[in-house]
Amino acid sequence: MNRQFRLKRRPVGRVTREDFDLVEAPVPEPAEGQAVIRNLYLSLDPTNRIWMSDQPQYMPPVAIGEVMRGGGIGRVVASRNPAYREGDLVNGILGWQDYYVAGAPGEMFAPSVIPDGLPIPLPTLMGACGMTGLTAYFGLTEIGQPKPGETVVVSAAAGAVGSVVGQVAKILGARVVGIAGGAAKCAFITGELGFDAAVDYKAPDWREQLKAATPNGIDVNFENVGGEIMEAVVARMNLYSRMPLCGMISTYNDAQRPRYDLSPFLMKRIRLQGFIILDFKDRYIEGSMQLAQWLMEGKLKARETVVEGLDKAPEALNMLFDGSNIGKLIVKI
Ligand SMILES: NC(=O)c1ccc[n+]([C@@H]2O[C@H](COP(=O)([O-])OP(=O)(O)OC[C@H]3O[C@@H](n4cnc5c(N)ncnc54)[C@H](OP(=O)(O)O)[C@@H]3O)[C@@H](O)[C@H]2O)c1
Repeated sequence: MNRQFRLKRRPVGRVTREDFDLVEAPVPEPAEGQAVIRNLYLSLDPTNRIWMSDQPQYMPPVAIGEVMRGGGIGRVVASRNPAYREGDLVNGILGWQDYYVAGAPGEMFAPSVIPDGLPIPLPTLMGACGMTGLTAYFGLTEIGQPKPGETVVVSAAAGAVGSVVGQVAKILGARVVGIAGGAAKCAFITGELGFDAAVDYKAPDWREQLKAATPNGIDVNFENVGGEIMEAVVARMNLYSRMPLCGMISTYNDAQRPRYDLSPFLMKRIRLQGFIILDFKDRYIEGSMQLAQWLMEGKLKARETVVEGLDKAPEALNMLFDGSNIGKLIVKI
């Protein structure tokens, strides 16, 4: 059977199991031009929460009754489409379900075939060498553009995107400060990942920690969380500094959009640019090859938190919001 999580209602606050119907349908058969994919791993991302809402966003929201949208890796089990051979591994928006039909009417993105024999574990192809790694790489290099010796600050620093941002910034010769919740995550980014300093935003003195960690101000703020952490970082940004705005996870569970004071951007001529990784889709191969090379050379460390079982997906998504993941959060189906 094909288990599918279908969105039953738009969540209010944190996601609950009751926001979905878990339905079972027969395993699909491919029609001419289609291929059936057995999903193996599901990527859990903060943007899943955005897609469940009907706030204005960069893609249509998931419709009520529709299979929950989500990235994944799977294996082709039947194909009547020359682009897919049985046994191929593919990467794409495969949904919160056991099986995906490639080439079905209304498909938003065709899954791409993963080249045979890549010496990279599949979970890492979803994280450090996949979509979140690419987000870190292009957001930092194209928008942040750190120069050697400059100070880069990244929030959600022990997470999928943040952990790669900090490591790439180090490779590029910057001084890197990560902001993360709790002593264990701070020890992970400075110890295992080689960040220069960490700020524990759950500690009462986090503002003093931020000040002490950025004596020369901040040249690049890779923003992942928004809210008061972002405001405190912006207050320390330098003249002509850059701010890739990647995400604002601290407010995704809120119904109200926050209001911010933009005057620091004017006074300090900060260049702020929001981006969505899809903006760089023509350069994914280039970015993945660079990340894979750094991984192979031992310059980039990949970390994943893997939850077992498709049925855990709704509850596991909340790990991104309570911070119980380190690195990329993945469900092994
Ligand atoms: N623009 C794009 O194309 C794109 C692509 C991928 C991701 N993103 C964005 O990048 C950000 C990180 O995503 P990710 O996939 O790498 O997730 P992640 O960092 O692996 O997980 C989210 C982390 O955010 C932190 N967090 C959650 N609520 C917070 C709060 N209220 N205040 C401060 N920190 C909080 C938690 O870490 P702590 O334990 O440290 O609190 C949690 O582990 C998100 O904003 C996401 O939307 C954007």
